Amino acid sequence: MLKVRKVDPLNPDYSIIREASEYVKRGSLVAFPTETVYGLGADTFNGEACLNIFRAKGRPPDNPLIVHISGINELDRVAIDIPEIAISVARKAWPGPLTLILPKSPDVPMEVTAGRNTVAVRSPAHPVALELIKVSGTPIAAPSANKSGRPSPTLAEHVIEDYANDDVDMILLDAGPTFFGVESTIVDVTRNPPVLLRPGPFTLEELRKLFNTEIVVPEFAKGLGEADVALAPGMKYRHYAPRTKLIVVECEDYDSLIKLLRDTVIDYLGKKLRVALLITKETANELMKYPEINELPVIILGYRGNPYTIAASLFDSLRNLDKLNVDLGIAEGIEERGIGLAIMNRLRKASGFFIVKCKDVSNT
Ligand code: TXA
Ligand code: MG
Repeated sequence: MLKVRKVDPLNPDYSIIREASEYVKRGSLVAFPTETVYGLGADTFNGEACLNIFRAKGRPPDNPLIVHISGINELDRVAIDIPEIAISVARKAWPGPLTLILPKSPDVPMEVTAGRNTVAVRSPAHPVALELIKVSGTPIAAPSANKSGRPSPTLAEHVIEDYANDDVDMILLDAGPTFFGVESTIVDVTRNPPVLLRPGPFTLEELRKLFNTEIVVPEFAKGLGEADVALAPGMKYRHYAPRTKLIVVECEDYDSLIKLLRDTVIDYLGKKLRVALLITKETANELMKYPEINELPVIILGYRGNPYTIAASLFDSLRNLDKLNVDLGIAEGIEERGIGLAIMNRLRKASGFFIVKCKDVSNT
């Protein structure tokens, strides 16, 4: 059964954290807020409890979890042979939305790392998550608290949507919306130079400064194409997917983007499909001038001028698309700068790589 407890995000009530920590100690599951998305956690050192995370999510068994620690002082409980650079980066970035891939300690069960000899570790910058780890007295292994393949949860309601009908012993700490709305940046520091496995709120520009080295950015980190499984186990699976078909429209030039969005909408309306738009406020103002468009259902993604607003509501936008009862969502692409890279990675994957680009049009 899913028990839900409301908790103040900035000043969590000790008795509620205490109650959740009892779930952790007895090998049950806790859904908890982090600064990125909600996580579905269990005691890292309890392999059987961690297996229950995979069962509850329907997660493929070869996709490892992230271990959450209360701070850098706990790092040697879960990782060994830690490179100097990783320690100096963690000192500056934690607590925060940066996950490091490190050589695993033998104490971490194989269930957590899906049989790998590396472990993903981060210290989350959310008072509820940090208190939960401290009071439980153990690092907490947790992927995002969605059912496998669904958009990650950024509200407690998303977790309830996915798990309310399940027969699992689970408590959900409802602390309202998460802060960033997209999952942590993942960097593999066992490789030299380090490799970006997933872009997130900790931006590539910030990483380059922090590491003071080159950072390898594979195509799959931009959400273009499938990942090398050996490098990034989780990236081969369909992710963030709404049930409704989704197309992403991308152009570097803004006027061309408006035109291509309009042409794409008209094209699919001509095919007698029911279309919804996922666009920024600025773009909605432009497109609403066209009578063939201004009657269509619209999900406002946030402000193009402030991509953090887009990140914060992105997964909620994808979940809402499924509630509109349309055949197709057409989404606006944004610039791959700062947190924009993380947003485009999620949008492209959510579309199953169905991307319409400006140059495609000029070629035809
Ligand atoms: O922000 C976040 O990262 C959230 C919160 C709860 O911390 N967690 C999260 O976990 O989003 P999730 O569902 O994305 O799963 C963990 C990711 C997967 O993509 C997995 O492949 C990757 O981390 N990962 C875990 N261990 C790994 C390893 N040893 N090598 C490479 N990738 C790893
Ligand atoms: Mg996930």
